Amino acid sequence: MENKTTIGTAIGKIILIGEHAVVYGHPALAIPFPETKIKTIINRKKGHVTLDCYFYKGLLSNVPERLLGLTTIIKEIVNSFSEKLEDISIKIESSIPPERGMGSSAAVAVATVRALYDFYERPLTREDLFKWSNISEKIVHGNPSGIDAAIIIGETPLYYIKGKPFIPFPFKLDAYLIVADTGELGQTQAAVASVKKLIEFNPKEGENIIKQLGILTDNAKTSIKINDIVSLGKTMSKAHTLLDKLDVSNETLNYLVSVAIDNGALGAKLTGGGRGGCMIALAETQYQANFISNKLLYSGAKNTWIYNMGVDLA
Ligand code: MEV
Repeated sequence: MENKTTIGTAIGKIILIGEHAVVYGHPALAIPFPETKIKTIINRKKGHVTLDCYFYKGLLSNVPERLLGLTTIIKEIVNSFSEKLEDISIKIESSIPPERGMGSSAAVAVATVRALYDFYERPLTREDLFKWSNISEKIVHGNPSGIDAAIIIGETPLYYIKGKPFIPFPFKLDAYLIVADTGELGQTQAAVASVKKLIEFNPKEGENIIKQLGILTDNAKTSIKINDIVSLGKTMSKAHTLLDKLDVSNETLNYLVSVAIDNGALGAKLTGGGRGGCMIALAETQYQANFISNKLLYSGAKNTWIYNMGVDLA
């Protein structure tokens, strides 16, 4: 049996504004986050298929429930090639902290689809990538808007509306974005389900919050276009207050948001599904970003990243 190895990669994502509202057809702004990456390595190896990743190491046939999205697409892809699911090992290496709102599940799917198509020497179209990653995301999140897959596949900032053609939104902003990991697993599926419940039981309040979040995304877009980082920061903080009202924040996120603001951030909010995961804060200068980042780490953040929005997003 000849040796063969293929590697698929994918980067993480950060939602600047519009999470949750995007599920209901409102816009969201998201950016690729190349500081974090997934790498799927497929090797030819005689015998049953094995999987080695953060949550599990062993036979593919015994993977835990939480990896069902990934294993479903692995099986369906190999089946669609009319190949037998055997004689390969799959290893997933990640610098995207899992379940923190950085798109790790979509990135794992995208990296794995890329590695599989390469291994079986099939041409991979963007449509294939969207199709498979959305199948996996549906299993993982229940009712995804598709924004995570869109950003991770496109690798460009997007103004995203569910079901509409993607509108790339490259920009340069004289500001720095601090991303801080609470260290707590986010609960996207539970948060999305609880927003749905709120809208069902209290449509007036729920729909109003969602609508306001959509308006804030458009305000943020305008602020970015004119490089008005002060108003962008205020808009981000308003969005956090609304997300908290939707009950998708938690104490740790609220605390880190307040630490960022108390230490000079122009604005701060949770990012992604919420109820754990990551928060983001906007700073005017690199010095300020470092200062806020250190305060966040001192206040319990498990990790931070600083993103220069003047160079990284064009
Ligand atoms: C998750 O990254 C973003 C949510 O809006 C869910 C989705 O859009 O699928 C919470």
